[in-house]
Amino acid sequence: MNETRDYPRMVETDAGEIELRLMTRADEDAVLAFARKLPAHDLLFLPRNISEPKVLSAWIHEIERGEITSLLAIWGESVVGCGTVVHDPHSWSPHVGEIRMVVLSEVRGTGVGRVLSQETFALALGAGLEKLTAQMTVDQKAAIALFESLGFKAEALLRDHVRDAAGKKHDLVVLGHNVAQFLAQMEAYGVPGAVRS
Ligand SMILES: CC(C)(COP(=O)(O)OP(=O)(O)OC[C@H]1O[C@@H](n2cnc3c(N)ncnc32)[C@H](O)[C@@H]1OP(=O)(O)O)[C@@H](O)C(=O)NCCC(=O)NCCS
Repeated sequence: MNETRDYPRMVETDAGEIELRLMTRADEDAVLAFARKLPAHDLLFLPRNISEPKVLSAWIHEIERGEITSLLAIWGESVVGCGTVVHDPHSWSPHVGEIRMVVLSEVRGTGVGRVLSQETFALALGAGLEKLTAQMTVDQKAAIALFESLGFKAEALLRDHVRDAAGKKHDLVVLGHNVAQFLAQMEAYGVPGAVRS
């Protein structure tokens, strides 16, 4: 994926100054520590459990192959949030990207998720993706509100689609956003390039 935005960059949030930077292999230990602080329920929207080193290592390989772009939010020395754009140029959906986002419980509600979502959205637009999706368990009210505020709308409900470690199944909602149409509308309003860096 072709990132054209400037990182690392400091941004102000209600939790204080946060550094945004693209995730690399050097972040492996810090991201593992971050993933292990997250409640398992907050990881159910992900296809695999990122608190397992093998899964994290596969994720880093995908970053290095350019299939995934992950942006980290760093507070002090610790990773407190991560926003990711996943896209497969060799699939039948080369124009579609999935956004995945998670923020540590301790800093939620302070604007970190908002900043990460805006940045990952802009990265996806910069990569020329035409449609974005995001999925989450239906009880993730903050995530649904956040994505809806960016223009995403519910497209599908997958019943009993994920099963937690205790064996309980949960429904997933899939939200979608036709960003190509959104960009065309922005240009019609006279703001070409407004959301690209
Ligand atoms: C979704 C998530 C990343 C938001 O992170 P956050 O740092 O708390 O987000 P912010 O503080 O920037 O809040 C962003 C918006 O979320 C919404 N929001 C935040 N907390 C909320 C809550 N408890 N209830 C309802 N909406 C809430 C608000 O619309 C807020 O908008 P505002 O900027 O106008 O206030 C975080 O809740 C999370 O990690 N959830 C678990 C993982 C998940 O399900 N991810 C979604 C999969 S893509």
